[in-house]
Amino acid sequence: MKKIAVMGFGVVGSGVVELCDKNAASIRRRAGVDVQVKYILDLRDFPESPYGEMVIHDFGTILNDPEIAVVAEVMGGLEPAFRYSKELLCAGKSVVTSNKELVAQKGAELLRLAKEHNVNYLFEASVGGGIPIIRPLHMCLAANEINEIAGILNGTTNFILTKMIREGMSFAEALALAQQLGYAERNPAADIEGTDACRKICILASLAYGKHVYPQEVHTEGISNITLRDVQYAGDWGGVIKLIGRARRLPDGRLSVMVSPAFISHESQLATVDDVFNGILVRADATGDVVFYGKGAGKLPTASAVVGDVIDCVKAEHTIQSLSWSDSAADTVCDYRQTPACFYLCCRGAKAVQAVRNVFGSVRFLHREGAPAEEAAFITPEGTEAQLAAQIKQLESGGTEILSAIRVLDY
Ligand code: HSE
Repeated sequence: MKKIAVMGFGVVGSGVVELCDKNAASIRRRAGVDVQVKYILDLRDFPESPYGEMVIHDFGTILNDPEIAVVAEVMGGLEPAFRYSKELLCAGKSVVTSNKELVAQKGAELLRLAKEHNVNYLFEASVGGGIPIIRPLHMCLAANEINEIAGILNGTTNFILTKMIREGMSFAEALALAQQLGYAERNPAADIEGTDACRKICILASLAYGKHVYPQEVHTEGISNITLRDVQYAGDWGGVIKLIGRARRLPDGRLSVMVSPAFISHESQLATVDDVFNGILVRADATGDVVFYGKGAGKLPTASAVVGDVIDCVKAEHTIQSLSWSDSAADTVCDYRQTPACFYLCCRGAKAVQAVRNVFGSVRFLHREGAPAEEAAFITPEGTEAQLAAQIKQLESGGTEILSAIRVLDY
């Protein structure tokens, strides 16, 4: 029998406890022993819960109990989760987590501590909810060079975009529903502004390329400026708008990592990833494209990944070597303005079409029903982001107003 502790009894924590209970027999078969929750750490009491008696308020109880070998940290946030995780690893206990903020900021340090104490720090649940992506990336695809990763990594924003496009639901209504279903972050700005997707692409890039990619190095844009007008133009172009996190290794060894909304062709496998689903495309040199798809948020999908990690920790006798990356220098990620891009631009002005031709030459104009005469939407030729920014400025200084600028990607 292995006893574990769960830190945090929110959406994911309660899912972890329920899953350990409900699937105890299959977990025993796979772990080789019974796995039982002994403690649940939370600030609150849960007298109504069938698991209420396991709730404790003192972290020291878990830290000092030799019977506890594995702890699930599903509290979220940097502190006290960081301090607790460090103390547990140093005490020789394995830690598993869904805490993407912590892994994205402190992963290199926590992985190093796990190695030093011959235990594990696992975080399958931190990216893609119930989708297996961390383990496939460092185990099943271990023989490959990873050329590129691109994914729809945030369930809440994908849910909101889908509801707006398919059902004409307002942004606020769709967000409220996502919160009700337990998809959104405590502060949903982290979803809407792309921060959550940024943390996740940082984790994937760190794992794929072996160097810690910090969120503050990654250019990040959210979905709060996307309008139904943009959605219509995307349809005319032949695709949809998705929030995409992407990472790629450049020939000089640096990384290009970014999060932004993007036009994605209907032909792309990512275009059909709707609702709360996430889709992650890994472009590897031996396999070619591999796509992972499933529920990227929610109580039981995320708990499934946490408990899967608990089972691996129970079975592991040593630190899993392939799950690691080293700390990195500040110039690991290149300045996004140096990367090549194409944009969809929507602009307004008395002579918008002529102004666009003057600046960009021959371009593909897009159409939508009911567009005002002064509106022009088109796809720019490819240039570096810096060149395109200069061209956009040129348009603006000639009196043309830019209404939207969204990247066009070819996954
Ligand atoms: N808020 C996150 C999302 C939860 O919507 O994807 C899962 O990480």
